[in-house]
Amino acid sequence: MTDQRTLGSETAIERDVVVVGAGPAGLTAARELVAAGRTVAVLEARDRVGGRTWSKTVDGAFLEIGGQWISPDQTELLALVEELGLETFQRYREGESVYVGSDGVRRTYTGSLFPASERTVAEMERLIGVLDDLVEEIGVEQPWAHPLARELDTVSFHSWLRARSGDEEACTNIGMFIAGAMLTKPSHAFSTLQAVLMAASAGSFSNLVDEDFILDRRVVGGMQSVSEAVAAQLGEDVVFLDTPVRTIRWAGEGETYAEHVPGTPVTVWSDRLTVRAKDVVVAVPPNLYSRISFEPPLPRLQHQMHQHQSLGLVIKVHAVYETPFWRDKGLSGTGFGAHELCQEVYDNTNHEDPRGTLVGFVSDEKADAVLALPAEERKRRILESLSNYLGEEARDPVVYYESDFGSEEWTRGAYAASYDLGGLHRYGAHQRTPVGPIRWACSDLAAEGYQHVDGALRQGRLAAAEILGAGSAPAAALQGAAR
Ligand code: FDA
Repeated sequence: MTDQRTLGSETAIERDVVVVGAGPAGLTAARELVAAGRTVAVLEARDRVGGRTWSKTVDGAFLEIGGQWISPDQTELLALVEELGLETFQRYREGESVYVGSDGVRRTYTGSLFPASERTVAEMERLIGVLDDLVEEIGVEQPWAHPLARELDTVSFHSWLRARSGDEEACTNIGMFIAGAMLTKPSHAFSTLQAVLMAASAGSFSNLVDEDFILDRRVVGGMQSVSEAVAAQLGEDVVFLDTPVRTIRWAGEGETYAEHVPGTPVTVWSDRLTVRAKDVVVAVPPNLYSRISFEPPLPRLQHQMHQHQSLGLVIKVHAVYETPFWRDKGLSGTGFGAHELCQEVYDNTNHEDPRGTLVGFVSDEKADAVLALPAEERKRRILESLSNYLGEEARDPVVYYESDFGSEEWTRGAYAASYDLGGLHRYGAHQRTPVGPIRWACSDLAAEGYQHVDGALRQGRLAAAEILGAGSAPAAALQGAAR
């Protein structure tokens, strides 16, 4: 055992609860616990708080590198924003939107229906209705427990759609709303049950395909400011940056999961701090659990389950222009095209900013392809795609930036985790089961707000409530207890 792992050194502290990760989930758990009088240490690997929310000025342009939008049903987040005294503003949406169909033809439209052929539009509406019914029937809390769970979880969303409709353009468009826009995996890589959960987390499939609902508001000053404000309230003796957690010993020496004695103190080793506590909240996405050594090892079920949860891949593209030129043409800046490199584009202009900002998304296999290109060629192709929607001016931004969370060591993808085919019904019931004193909290495990900041907050609050409900002992009670 190295010195770094010796309790009693100057880097060792004691707290009631250790939280791993200072993203929205971890900070919320800490906030709730501190409010209830518990002592807490939040250990964060990065040099900043906020995790997958990150607001940054690049070449003079303020950009939302990570999560940014809030929908009206995300009441947990809206309430926190208000409580913190932050303001929100609506996404610009005046004027016509653009649809690039499977024929490559660009058409403008208003309202929520794509200007595809009558048959395609009718098929899209029918499929949305079928999915709304499934969402209604299955619900968001325990999709794995529904009698249809296995059947829906063992068929890919791609195949399920095509078994229900012969209209390829309708299937591609409906697939895009979940695949490219949410899970950021190809629709052959996840199940229909996973798609139903994604829609249920937003209230309905209809909500999910309505960009005016799902991409409604942003926080003035950026979404990361929510985490920064919470961290500031908690203070520097609670939130420790540059502190990646490497090992969690959650039972006595040589003890197995089955032999675990409740109340045994847990020890968390990070690069610059050792914390002994009674409870741990691991508030990192599931794909990163295996970056931490657990002593003793987690139960077999956990080992297996975690290997079936993975993050998708998306490049969030930011292009800033001297003016929002598309507005002068009567365009909203919104565009959809399942066959375009950027399947979605939106006006992402900052609050009261005279410059215009577009945000576009390049997802899953399309992202694989362009990430293999030299940066200049990738930029050229992405801007060409934006110009297909909004005109030649889109080719020439004054600031251009690609968010690439796939390259971030402490995330490794975007936006969040989903199960592979068959994983949700097989493991979903166990994903939040505590292991001894360890609880799991992140947006990737949420019901309402799944994959979103709102879901992260709900998960953080839930983990804290469970710890408080179980009656966590104060750190002083751990003095002298056996390791
Ligand atoms: P999150 O990943 O945010 O935080 C986990 C923290 O743990 C990180 O700070 C990480 O550094 C830290 N960590 C990891 N391993 C560690 C270790 N071993 N030791 C210590 N610390 C460790 N959502 C939304 O509501 N609206 C939106 O518009 C979008 N858009 C969007 C775009 C992009 C590009 C991304 C990447 C994500 C979004 N999201 C989003 C998703 C949203 O950002 C995400 O769901 C939440 O940030 C998740 O919060 P968590 O706290 O669960 O994890």
